[in-house]
Amino acid sequence: MADWTDCLNFGISVAKRAGEQKEVKLKSSPADLVTETDQRVEKILISAISTRYPQHRFIGEESVAAGERLQLTDSPTWIIDPIDGTVNFVHRFPFVAISIAFAVNKQTEFGIVYSCVEDKLFHAQRGRGAFLNGEPLHVSGQEDISRCVVVTEIGAERDDLALSTLTSNIFRLLKLPVHGVRALGTAAVDMCQVAMGGADAYYHIGMHCWDIAASAIIVREAGGVVTDTDGGWFDVMSRRVIAASSSAVANRIAQVIRPFPCRRDDEE
Ligand code: IPD
Repeated sequence: MADWTDCLNFGISVAKRAGEQKEVKLKSSPADLVTETDQRVEKILISAISTRYPQHRFIGEESVAAGERLQLTDSPTWIIDPIDGTVNFVHRFPFVAISIAFAVNKQTEFGIVYSCVEDKLFHAQRGRGAFLNGEPLHVSGQEDISRCVVVTEIGAERDDLALSTLTSNIFRLLKLPVHGVRALGTAAVDMCQVAMGGADAYYHIGMHCWDIAASAIIVREAGGVVTDTDGGWFDVMSRRVIAASSSAVANRIAQVIRPFPCRRDDEE
């Protein structure tokens, strides 16, 4: 099996360096903000990584927004969200992360989530466990949905069907009941909460591959499960995910929530 530890260590060092960018300049609409910092951080990351690994490919949120084709191939590929939690960043709500995943043959080899304000560095490498600031991470292992804190997100969708589905999903979960429902405003950090046992599950429809590719491997390596929202196989391009402390909790959430239509990330 190839050893990608050198790439992992380089990814961690560039994520920490890029996390020092703090300036906020708005570029887009109130519901789906983009800052100049998003674009600058992505450029810093891609330029550093491509100088060291010139053969590697990239899927970056800002490059895709600028018109680059989103296609995950078998080549070594870095999947980058320069700022996950852009709305938080703009409002100084203190959960903002740099998310970097690395996939080969379409399989994620490692994931890095740097929660910059908290100065928490989460990482996981396939088959080698998950870590927070170097200390091993474990999910809560909770199996009883009625004892769970469940994290989800509202996202940027504002059409009636998406909003009514989102709110009725939360309604149904609260009625199960669960202990609580939370939203931190960054999918990557939400999922890392599951990995560290601060939350027992996370589900979301509508986020993108760069928001969750890194945290999905972090949850799995911390002993959790990651599935589609129907309980089936997780496809990072599908824009649907459940991450949970146990299969029992993932399955229960899959029974309760309903999807709404959403274009795949790799749809032409
Ligand atoms: C967003 C965040 C948010 C989620 C959205 C994502 P961005 O990512 O992860 O929590 O609800 O669906 O698009 O735009 O801040 O990188």
